[in-house]
Amino acid sequence: MANSSNAEWLESDARYLAPTYHRCFEIVAERAKGAYLYDVEGNEYLDFTMGIAVNNVGHCHPAVVKAAQEQVEKLIHCSAVTRHTMNIQLAEKITQIAPTGLDCVFLNNSGGEAVDAAIKMARFVTGRPNVIAFTGAFHGRTLLATALTTAKSHYRQGYEPLPSGIFHAPYPYCLRCPVGQVPGQCNLECFDVLESMFNHQVKPDTVGAILIEPMMGEGGYVVPATGYKTENGFMQRLRKLCDQHGIMLIFDEVQCGFGRTGKWFASQHFGVVPDLMIVAKGIASGFPMAGVVSRKDLMDKWTVGRHGSTYGGNPVACAAALASIDVIEKENLLENTRKMGEYFVAKLNEIKAKYSFVREVRGLGLMIGMEVAKSSDTSAGEPDGQLIERLVDECFKRKLLLLDCGIKNHIIRFIPPLNVTKSEIDKALAIIEEALPVAAAGAKAAELVS
Ligand SMILES: Cc1ncc(COP(=O)(O)O)c(C=O)c1O
Repeated sequence: MANSSNAEWLESDARYLAPTYHRCFEIVAERAKGAYLYDVEGNEYLDFTMGIAVNNVGHCHPAVVKAAQEQVEKLIHCSAVTRHTMNIQLAEKITQIAPTGLDCVFLNNSGGEAVDAAIKMARFVTGRPNVIAFTGAFHGRTLLATALTTAKSHYRQGYEPLPSGIFHAPYPYCLRCPVGQVPGQCNLECFDVLESMFNHQVKPDTVGAILIEPMMGEGGYVVPATGYKTENGFMQRLRKLCDQHGIMLIFDEVQCGFGRTGKWFASQHFGVVPDLMIVAKGIASGFPMAGVVSRKDLMDKWTVGRHGSTYGGNPVACAAALASIDVIEKENLLENTRKMGEYFVAKLNEIKAKYSFVREVRGLGLMIGMEVAKSSDTSAGEPDGQLIERLVDECFKRKLLLLDCGIKNHIIRFIPPLNVTKSEIDKALAIIEEALPVAAAGAKAAELVS
């Protein structure tokens, strides 16, 4: 294959790769470094997507590259045939940074696979079949994870019948309150709906787990119940409810974990410790790696041979994960994430003040969402996915990569590396400021035509 241009590679891609894999941009990547990605024609893109929240320490961080290279020379794979030093070291390290008490780790390869593992473990350990998840969340693409996912019906349609025993409660998305309350003036009526499910749909003593993203990813970059500010918030009440009924609380930290929100894990913003925590993405800078973190007393009930994985805890992926964690620690990236996140949000709020269609800028650390809507009388307005599509496109033309999210793709998610600099953020902001009016004018014109 002697391809050289994006167009030539795309032709071969279309011929040989399954089209079901949706790609966001019609370019072909060749290499990447830090916050930048380069296509086969040598074009440089400022990448604020980080492989969908995976390359938390930036593309090809030298320490991660070195660790993986050294490990490849020593041991690539031995599966569960023997024990090996790398997953033991990684498991110990994860327990040191995990929320207090989560001191035992199961490793596998992807977020969806880890979601399956967590639910299997919860069902096995509690002996209870049912699971409650939240509307709007994304948990992956295995059949069980698909059944838990309600970010878009598109992810489910065509795959029915999906695994049963799964119920959905409203996610506390204050801007678009699922139970029609005014943000900041409610009594967490969304939580009442969850409790009422025990009367109407599923008895609490049959529920093995409640699964939630402590900050919602694909569903809209939503910080839960931001409109409700007391000690007895949504997450705290969730913890109490689970304790009261012997239900395992599972946090899906696949997208928000490993420093993305300015703490190791998003749950640490709420001071709530789950029984099980699912991790993936940012853990290993792009090497396939995921896992379930829990308490030793619970993990011990998931007895030998009841679950496993051929590649899980692969030595090379473990080396990359250990190096990534080390970089976050040594380069003070949690602090940088908090500082840069505050700066970015403040600047985006300046943009919001100029454009009424920007309804909300929200986030934790460097997991930031900017939601847009068509003008309307309500504070949330009608989601404007068309505007975001044009904005992403106008930014792409100016060599900035951004991703959307949300039910109508009406939210930009900003996911720079945790070591992003102020000048890289400024560069992205300058592009956004230039692209926004162009995108808005285009969206308006398209609306007039249609
Ligand atoms: C919160 C969350 N859970 C689970 C998954 C599934 O992870 P994977 O694509 O690695 O299977 C994702 C992926 O985007 C995610 O964001």
